[in-house]
Amino acid sequence: MSLDTKILTIDLGTRAYDVYIGSGLIYRFADFLPFESEGNSFFIVCDDNTRAYAEIVRNTLRADGASKAEMITLTPGEASKSWESAQRLLEWLVQQKVERSSCIIAVGGGVIGDISGFCAAVILRGIAYVQIPTTLLAQVDSSVGGKTGLNMGQTKNMVGAFHQPVAVIADLDALKNLPRRQLLAGYAEIVKIALLGDAPFFRWLETHASAMLEGDWVAMAQAIETAVRAKARIVEADEREQGGRALLNLGHTFAHALETATGFDGRLLHGEAVAIGMVLAFDLSVRLGLCTAEDQHRVEEHLSAMGLPIRIAMIDPPLKISPQEILALMRHDKKVENGSLRLILPSAMGVAHVADDVDEAQIINVLKDSLGSEYSGKDIKNQWKSVFFSR
Ligand code: GLY
Repeated sequence: MSLDTKILTIDLGTRAYDVYIGSGLIYRFADFLPFESEGNSFFIVCDDNTRAYAEIVRNTLRADGASKAEMITLTPGEASKSWESAQRLLEWLVQQKVERSSCIIAVGGGVIGDISGFCAAVILRGIAYVQIPTTLLAQVDSSVGGKTGLNMGQTKNMVGAFHQPVAVIADLDALKNLPRRQLLAGYAEIVKIALLGDAPFFRWLETHASAMLEGDWVAMAQAIETAVRAKARIVEADEREQGGRALLNLGHTFAHALETATGFDGRLLHGEAVAIGMVLAFDLSVRLGLCTAEDQHRVEEHLSAMGLPIRIAMIDPPLKISPQEILALMRHDKKVENGSLRLILPSAMGVAHVADDVDEAQIINVLKDSLGSEYSGKDIKNQWKSVFFSR
């Protein structure tokens, strides 16, 4: 695959950095660091799935004369976004004699990026880190914008810091071996970007997503670039989520509650939860008279055609939970203000807004329908399975 490398700048003044999108970048990653490898110390964080990539990084740094290039491997999965993993990582950094001038390199998906970024933010009151995202979700969303964090109890990302990386290196080749399920989960975040601010991009996705997910890497590069460019503009305008950045949470209050309800046991990937959450947000908007049922159906049709789940009833094994319990989990969300839920709701295709004081009875209705009490839950689940596993 030969693709031109795209360079997008996240313009945050003294914290500005570049995002590199292209193929074969892992072998050239040292060219994209904002400082020399020679004489500097690097601490590489990966998981069992990204070890081979991390080894390339370590060997390159050693060959380039880094004073130190050490590596730690965490267990893949959301459970690693915990205090225990952070403590292990921080203790390892101290044992390795981390210094203020050291740099952490996160090689992996959102979990590795988030925990590495968090440790980079707090060790020695903050050191540099580089993101080398290896999943689609991390390339289009979590590696860009400086959100780092850990899960705590029932709340995703409850503890964290805004700490921008010094570079993001998104190598499309890393996506080639991703299981389709992982690729789709990342695709949901691309759809999110379109739904919250770019209706023509959603139309483009309706036309190109199938080819893109079947290996059209030119289309994939274009979609990643469009999503990162949109996120860059949002983050530049509101780095610490005092306003417009909240729109990036479209579908996320529902999604985080559903992920928590699964106990992070792997039956629901973050992007799958976001797909269901976006449909719930559209459904709620329709019931509140904020957008049309046609918009909702269009979104459902597209996500479902791609093979993403669109109803809570499609989670397998099913969630044994009531709408009221899901609502209670939603109230643990970070976006609760003065005890009241703040949701991101679509007002049209490509337009979303922050909504306070949403009628909770309507939220319950939306959850009830998605849980499938009035449907034959089995049929919905099987319908998803057949689309999902045939792709
Ligand atoms: N993933 C949402 C954000 O970066 O704000």
